[in-house]
Amino acid sequence: MPSLLLLAGDGIGPEIMAATKRVIEFFNAKGAGFDTVEGLVGGCAYDAEGTPFPKSTVEKAEAADAMLLACVGGPKWDDIKEYDMRPEAGLLGLRKHFELFANIRPAISYPALADSSSLKREVVEGLDIIILRELTGGVYFGEPKTIEDIGNGQKRAIDTQVYDTYEIERIARAAFDLARARRGKVTSMEKRNVMKSGILWREVVEATHRQGYEDVTLDHMLADAGAMQLVRDPKQFDVVVTDNLFGDMLSDIAAQLTGSLGMLPSASLGAVDEKTGRRRALYEPVHGSAPDIAGQGIANPIAMITSFGMALKYSFGMIAEADALDAAIADALADGIRTADIAMGGPSVDTMGMTDAILAKLEARL
Ligand code: IPM
Ligand code: MG
Repeated sequence: MPSLLLLAGDGIGPEIMAATKRVIEFFNAKGAGFDTVEGLVGGCAYDAEGTPFPKSTVEKAEAADAMLLACVGGPKWDDIKEYDMRPEAGLLGLRKHFELFANIRPAISYPALADSSSLKREVVEGLDIIILRELTGGVYFGEPKTIEDIGNGQKRAIDTQVYDTYEIERIARAAFDLARARRGKVTSMEKRNVMKSGILWREVVEATHRQGYEDVTLDHMLADAGAMQLVRDPKQFDVVVTDNLFGDMLSDIAAQLTGSLGMLPSASLGAVDEKTGRRRALYEPVHGSAPDIAGQGIANPIAMITSFGMALKYSFGMIAEADALDAAIADALADGIRTADIAMGGPSVDTMGMTDAILAKLEARL
């Protein structure tokens, strides 16, 4: 039986996870047979078990075929000083523990939402790009990572940007493989004009390209210019591959192109296990825990639901079901159903209202 570990996390997490459970139940009623287990990560885990990254969660994750995570963090835990005890450490712990190095963040503009973007309709209409973010290296995990006292009332903060050849090579391969199944174009973004890691990044991406990926078109951009191009003419891109920190920022930009951060799912994948053919996977929305609206039942569940859609596709090979889910969401949006974040001041439904609409459209399609 396919198994899923559900990690609702903090803030709006439990609300959008409850919505997604209804979608899982829908597929189970059709015979999918998903076995779900729940676990704690982030602030809720810190409150319950004194750590944002409990062993019990790692054990449950080891046993599951895939993880579905909503979001972590919030003002409640802002005063925790110890880096390892902050809610985000739970999320980063999962990524690192399972070596989920390939973070696929698709930005797709639903036709009905082209006017919800802060950009002109013609700039975003039909947008379908992927930001492929390296997720287990770079400045997020590089050592040393410290704040030290250097006397005279001064402190020094150090973060370390570090990349090894193999880390760049495996994410480059992932980019070329993804692009091959799409429009065949990869744009690599770094800052080689100021960063040594940018120089190596470009070198390794180019070398990997020469190793049997010449059928894919490869371009390079400095990450700042790439950010500008993402808002100027996003449709020029197909797959953008970039490091952990640039990927964090560029994917928020890409999300906003589609109308709202509430729309963007992601998949974080590990290497394919040669023995089992399986790969570790964590699926989560790109957005955060939105503490400002938590508990009100009004959050947009689409990024969470489409994250489950990505699990159907990448972990369970249920392509037809994943496509039907995407189409059902597009149908609901085409009917004018909107949560507040994409309603542009017009009438809106709450989290469960949006979920009802998506399930009704799904029922009509399957
Ligand atoms: C993301 C988030 C995380 C990150 C935070 C919550 C640690 O912004 O997944 O994009 O910075 O990676
Ligand atoms: Mg982010």
